Amino acid sequence: MKLTRREFLQGAGAALGAAALPTALRAAGPSPIALRAAISQQDIRAGGPTQVWAFNDQCPGPLLRFRRGDTLDALVRNDLPTVTTVHWHGIRLPNAMDGVPHVTQAPIRVGDRFEYKFKLPDAGTYWYHPHQSSFEQVPRGLYGPLVVEEDKPLEVDREELWVLGDFKLDKRNRPIEDFGKVLDFGSWGRLGNTFTINGTAAGPERKLSLRPNERVRLRLVNGASARIFYLAFTGHEPVVVTYDGQSVQPHPIPNGVLVLGCGQRTDLVIDGTAGPGTFAIMDKRDAGTQIASIAYAGRPVREKALAMPQPVTPNDLDEPDLVKATAHFLVFEGGTLGQPAIGRVDGKEMDVKQIMEQHGLTWTMNYTAQHEHAMMHTPLFRFSKGEHVVIRMLNNTEFEHPMHLHGHFFKVLRIDDRKLERPIWRDTVMVAPKGSAEIAFVAENVGEWMFHCHILDHAAGGMMGTIVVDS
Ligand code: C2O
Ligand code: CU
Repeated sequence: MKLTRREFLQGAGAALGAAALPTALRAAGPSPIALRAAISQQDIRAGGPTQVWAFNDQCPGPLLRFRRGDTLDALVRNDLPTVTTVHWHGIRLPNAMDGVPHVTQAPIRVGDRFEYKFKLPDAGTYWYHPHQSSFEQVPRGLYGPLVVEEDKPLEVDREELWVLGDFKLDKRNRPIEDFGKVLDFGSWGRLGNTFTINGTAAGPERKLSLRPNERVRLRLVNGASARIFYLAFTGHEPVVVTYDGQSVQPHPIPNGVLVLGCGQRTDLVIDGTAGPGTFAIMDKRDAGTQIASIAYAGRPVREKALAMPQPVTPNDLDEPDLVKATAHFLVFEGGTLGQPAIGRVDGKEMDVKQIMEQHGLTWTMNYTAQHEHAMMHTPLFRFSKGEHVVIRMLNNTEFEHPMHLHGHFFKVLRIDDRKLERPIWRDTVMVAPKGSAEIAFVAENVGEWMFHCHILDHAAGGMMGTIVVDS
């Protein structure tokens, strides 16, 4: 079935209904998109509204939808009670637009504005969120989706977008404001107790409705500050078509469980081949939680199910040359379960007790714990523009860490000691407890770029550093 672009967009809008997709804002036009960060109210679950911090009074913030090559122009106004910035996760943009306080810009003061304007070189599913005190601002509700369409979009009947998250609420739906606890920094992070899909409570009653033999592209974003999702789709075999916006050879979810680390995105193609009936979509962490149901309704879209989807057109990314690449190591230590972190704070020698008790930091990267953006005078690595690099990350801790690099995509070559048959492009990679990951990329984007754990409590607890690409 062929849809015109117009029909396609209408279909996408209509189908979302109950899923409350954020309204789409498009760039076209001379004036910038207005994004206002402010305190707001949202009905997250039954029993009364919750006070949230949100962009344009909705969590997630408005869906920003563009075509590849478009210019994103957003005027951000800060009406929060504190300073903020907006980071455009995954976008290869000029350093000055990256939204990192004290590193790429001054924080936007209360009542001030900042205009972000840059080209979108790569198609894919992305998101935006503050980089200022992100361990607090993100779980309060400040995040939104950003979609950049391929020149020739994948053929599907319909598209859905789910931004997953979690809120920590009390019985009266008030946010529990226990941000910044060292115990959370040093362990699993501050986990919410209410899973959300597009800002409202997840659960069996949340429906992904399918018609028989219908093909849906489901764009998934993990916007949770600390929760890693382990998703299983009962009765179905969704096909992965992109990770972090980048095309992969379409393949079923490895081992049937989609690991969606904090900050990561995955696009799935789901075919309606299992109906009639309803089928659970589970998060398999701990005892397991049903976050939604696949429900069948309506007449078949076609007689037979479609064949495996074609790959999404890949973005134009520079292949790292492993022969000439320079080699680098990055070691993680610390956390409340492991051997204490030894080393330095912000470059100064310090013992473990001081790191934890005086500075509230619990992790080190290459033996250094850094305060959130407080000083970035000692980057983890310095590369020259165009340098091909391999970084091997060694996780000497008992926790998993979704590691995110700004301004670049990297190729994941090895996970633990297993070489990937087909290396994949990503901007955020999961590194298992006591595990390792090897990544490679061309350092092509000049500037100082954050390299940090995307469990935002870990980032605030020391797992934050930068790489510098010199011109
Ligand atoms: Cu989505 Cu530095 O983060
Ligand atoms: Cu971490």
